Amino acid sequence: MFNQGLSLDQAPPASIPFRFFLTAPLFGILLGLVFFFYPLESIIDQYSPVAIAVVHLFTLGMLTMIIFGAMQQMMPVLAGAVIKKPILFGNIVYLSLTLGTLSFSTSFLFSNKILMIIGAGLLSLSFLVFFLSAIYLLFQVKFLTSTVSAMKIFSVCGIITAVLGLYLATSYIKDDIGPQHLNFVNTHATFGLFGFGVILIMGVAFQVIPMFYVALDFPKFIQTKIPLIILIIIVLIALFLFLKIDIYVLKVILSSMFILFSVYGLNSLNNRRRPVFDVTLWFWKVSLYMFIISMLNWLFIPQDNMFTLAILFGLGFLYSLLQGMMYKIIPFLSWFHLSSQGHMVIPTMREMISEDMIKLQFFIFISSVFFFVIAGFLSNIFLYLGALMFIASNMLLIFNCANAVRKYKRLSKSNPMDAFIKK
Ligand code: HEM
Repeated sequence: MFNQGLSLDQAPPASIPFRFFLTAPLFGILLGLVFFFYPLESIIDQYSPVAIAVVHLFTLGMLTMIIFGAMQQMMPVLAGAVIKKPILFGNIVYLSLTLGTLSFSTSFLFSNKILMIIGAGLLSLSFLVFFLSAIYLLFQVKFLTSTVSAMKIFSVCGIITAVLGLYLATSYIKDDIGPQHLNFVNTHATFGLFGFGVILIMGVAFQVIPMFYVALDFPKFIQTKIPLIILIIIVLIALFLFLKIDIYVLKVILSSMFILFSVYGLNSLNNRRRPVFDVTLWFWKVSLYMFIISMLNWLFIPQDNMFTLAILFGLGFLYSLLQGMMYKIIPFLSWFHLSSQGHMVIPTMREMISEDMIKLQFFIFISSVFFFVIAGFLSNIFLYLGALMFIASNMLLIFNCANAVRKYKRLSKSNPMDAFIKK
């Protein structure tokens, strides 16, 4: 089941990633609530302060939260990049990311500069601690798998995203919005969504799809070349933006790379070597289809506002996949830690989280995406319905994951020999 890079004795305590995973849906609930307290026009208008708050409740509170949590386990386990003081590291990154995201987003909702200064400061701490350590550790790894290479590119993009984000935040704090502001915003968003978000997901998929789903490996070309090509395109997009050159050709190349990745991912998942039913596959497949649809939408549909595209890409692609990943990683890490503590009788994934509850959560989540998308064509009422469903799906996600974490905690406190004595 495991690849060569997997090492059993180097992982930090499971409570660290679990804390990040359980916090992300809380930010999802907050995001859903914003729909009920702010005018819908301000949420849909990409450049309004409310939209900036909503975007960062998602990109920082949910996307970054899950990625930082997962990376703390994946770096030592998949790359052999061991964080020296994992508990201290985890606490600093977690607290500064959580409080930083809360202050930063509320600063836009309440137009409060003090909160923005606090938020920007805490986010700098979180991103710098995380990425300086990640870059230091990952660039020393000798055994370079495609996942490690993707993680390196992700780390470089992550630090560029944060530096640009801090530059933008400073211009708000100083009330000094320069003529190039929009180019900085677009460059920041491009590095954040494509470099930080997509490249990390690709790196994880290269490892996780064959490992968790006993499926075909991605072709070598996809694994070794595509993340690098994406990095080059992102840098060119930034250059073109500042030089005022049309970026359409770059958009076409970038989208083609993403679509190619999704097609191979779907092909691998549809032709598994051991095709047993696994509900988490629904999240992965929906995610990859949504990735393709969002790229086609980006290329061919003129946008009045970016709302539908943001829903397709952010929730349909990114969040679907991250939820599927959490449902897989939590039971896996529980097994991983319990077995290294000497436990032999460990619940299976289905015993850790009820499959029916995952299905229910999936349907509620998908209906929220559906309502958000049709709202653009029909009526704003559907935005409220979408938000309601989104809140419900995040509550159920917390419930499902917390149940598994509770089971893990109970077992990890027990003596591994108890299972035999009872028998
Ligand atoms: C240190 C962390 C970050 C800070 C301080 C930050 C700051 C900012 C600021 C101030 C803006 C507003 C620009 C404007 O419209 O005037 C912005 C926009 C944006 N940021 Fe961030 N950001 C951070 C991290 C991220 C990450 C990690 C992502 C994505 C993964 C991201 C994605 C975006 C996007 C998509 C926009 C455009 C929003 C829109 O058009 O409404 N940001 N960011």
